[in-house]
Amino acid sequence: MSQGAVGDPSIQLDELFTEFQAGGLRVRNRFAMAPMTRVKSPDGVPNAENAEYYRAHAAGGAGLIITEGTYVRGPAAGPLPKVPRFYGAQSAQGWRAVVDAVHAEGSAIVPQLWHTGVDRGESPRFEPDALSVSPSGVDHTGKRVGRALTNDDLDALLASYVESAILARESGFDGLELHGAHGYLLDQFFWATTNHRDDSHGGTLRARAAFPARVVAAVREAVGPDFPIIYRYSQWKGVDYTARIAETPGELEELLIPLVEAGVDIFHTSTRRHWEPEFTDHAEDLGLAGWTKKITGLPVITVGSVGVDSVFQGGQIDETQSQRFRVLREQFERGEFDLVAVGRALLADPEWVNKVRDGRLADIVPFR
Ligand SMILES: Cc1cc2nc3c(=O)[nH]c(=O)nc-3n(C[C@H](O)[C@H](O)[C@H](O)COP(=O)(O)O)c2cc1C
Repeated sequence: MSQGAVGDPSIQLDELFTEFQAGGLRVRNRFAMAPMTRVKSPDGVPNAENAEYYRAHAAGGAGLIITEGTYVRGPAAGPLPKVPRFYGAQSAQGWRAVVDAVHAEGSAIVPQLWHTGVDRGESPRFEPDALSVSPSGVDHTGKRVGRALTNDDLDALLASYVESAILARESGFDGLELHGAHGYLLDQFFWATTNHRDDSHGGTLRARAAFPARVVAAVREAVGPDFPIIYRYSQWKGVDYTARIAETPGELEELLIPLVEAGVDIFHTSTRRHWEPEFTDHAEDLGLAGWTKKITGLPVITVGSVGVDSVFQGGQIDETQSQRFRVLREQFERGEFDLVAVGRALLADPEWVNKVRDGRLADIVPFR
């Protein structure tokens, strides 16, 4: 067990170097590598460099690797040909090498299954002739940028997620994560601004959660009861950091319970600052992770500016690293989260987790 940072007990995170287990998922510590897009897989096929990248992060201590977002089969899952895909024999072979490399270092790994919906830009380079699709074919400003998904499209999409889920299980992954965050396809259903449907997939919060819940249920049915499903969601969107879909804990419950009932095992609450209270007018100052755990009773992954001095796509942070480590430890001790995902700090230093474990904070290569 670590001695922590010598001389400053506030920055010891020893409690986070304990094993985590949920269903079929076993992780040797509480640190996950956050999913981070790289655009380094020519033709969408993970290659030897990709396997080495994830191996190095596993060797550096991240107990759970959540891969970069990887496209499910379309229609029009995303704009970039070098984002890895999660379907087809060639990609499957590439992913198997990634899984083996990570497992050889003692870490667990899940793919993040991704469809960008209409957040695909005006001139996508992958599948350029396909029209973008989303709940209503409009972006967050109401502008028409694609077409609304028909019922047949929804069925095809369910089949795409199922195809990828089966591939994840057959390739030896330890579970999978559904990317339901940041304003991409599944989140476009959640968000009233991008979901104007008047069928059973639009309207109330619960109805807006219906298609994401159908994806979870279809995946659950395909992979069986023991293969962990992580669901990542956020209030913020890549196109609007101030966006909120739930203004109260009650509204959050409306969104999350259908997903729980459909079979989610773990929620990954994507925030940019893990220490911020989610509902400021509420007596309880829980963050989004804490609220999600309280509402669902399920394990939760927190994330947001751990080990860095600036917010993701935002400004500088005033508190010192040791102050924030202390808050992280206190949140963990209060049971507000089970795992913490670390993004940019691991990009700068793949050995970040091991250095924190060993109290070698001065050796950490900082993220700039
Ligand atoms: C280069 C980069 C790529 C990212 N790509 C993804 C992605 O593919 N999927 C996703 O859910 N989040 C993505 N994110 C967001 C991160 O997962 C994470 O939530 C964010 O960086 C905040 O964590 P941090 O403060 O520890 O960096 C990305 C972030 C960065 C910096």
